[in-house]
Formats: sequence, C-alpha cells, structure tokens
Amino acid sequence: MKGLAELARLAQQARTRAHAPYSRFKVGAALRTKTGEIILGCNIENASYGLTMCAERVAVFKAVSEGFREFDAVAVCADSSHLTPPCGPCRQILWEFCGDIAVRMVDLKGRARTTSLSKLLPFPFDSRHL
Ligand code: THU
Repeated sequence: MKGLAELARLAQQARTRAHAPYSRFKVGAALRTKTGEIILGCNIENASYGLTMCAERVAVFKAVSEGFREFDAVAVCADSSHLTPPCGPCRQILWEFCGDIAVRMVDLKGRARTTSLSKLLPFPFDSRHL
C-alpha cells in the first residue's frame, strides 16, 4: 500500500496533465482505494469556463466509472502561496463516495498538510437525510 507521501507525489505528476489554459492554475489529485489502487485526476477547463471540472472530481468520477467504490485517502497538489483544499462541490462529491477520508494537500515547494474530509465538510448533507 502506497503511503500519503507517495500519493502526494502521484498527485503532483497528475497535475502536469492539467488542461488549464484559462486560469493557468493547474491541480492534480490522487485518490487511493482501500485496497491500494490509485486513480489520478487533473483539472480540465473549458472555453465556456462554467464547464470546468476540478481534479478531485475527475479522479472520483474516473474511479467510480471503473468500478472502485471504497476509498481511504486523497491527495491534492497545486502551486500556490496557500495549500489548496478541495472546493465546496468537490467536498460534497468526495463525501458521497468516500466518506471521512484523509485529505493531504501539497504544493511544489514540499509544503504539506493532512486533514480529514469531515473537518473540511462538517455537518454534511447526504443520503441519510433522504
Ligand atoms: N481547481 C481544482 O481542480 N481543484 C481545487 O481544489 C480547486 C480548484 C481548479 C478549477 C479551475 O480549473 C482552477 O483550479 C482554478 O479555479
């Protein structure tokens, strides 16, 4: 099983494949299944702007569409003066499929921080409410 440091390195690699010609803000994500598979994602922007998809959701949707359902960690890599956490919509999507997983944020300078999805998304709306 690859650890969080390796997951972060893979998120950094995934970031190089970002399609971000409009914001120029490249993001990579690496999602780990409970059995150790790793699914990567990068942000994919669109000339319409609004159709842009974040790296985290690309990774989740790739994983789910490939049949993976149980996850325990995600790493997110961006190049910014502040570590980049998943945006609000990504937190909601991550919660739906991953629950309270570890979230590791890293940048290109080697700064890193690990938190949990429940800290980023307290009191979430989910299937229990339906
Ligand atoms: N973005 C992500 O891919 N993940 C995040 O967690 C934050 C934002 C992308 C969306 C857009 O392509 C660019 O970063 C600027 O917002």
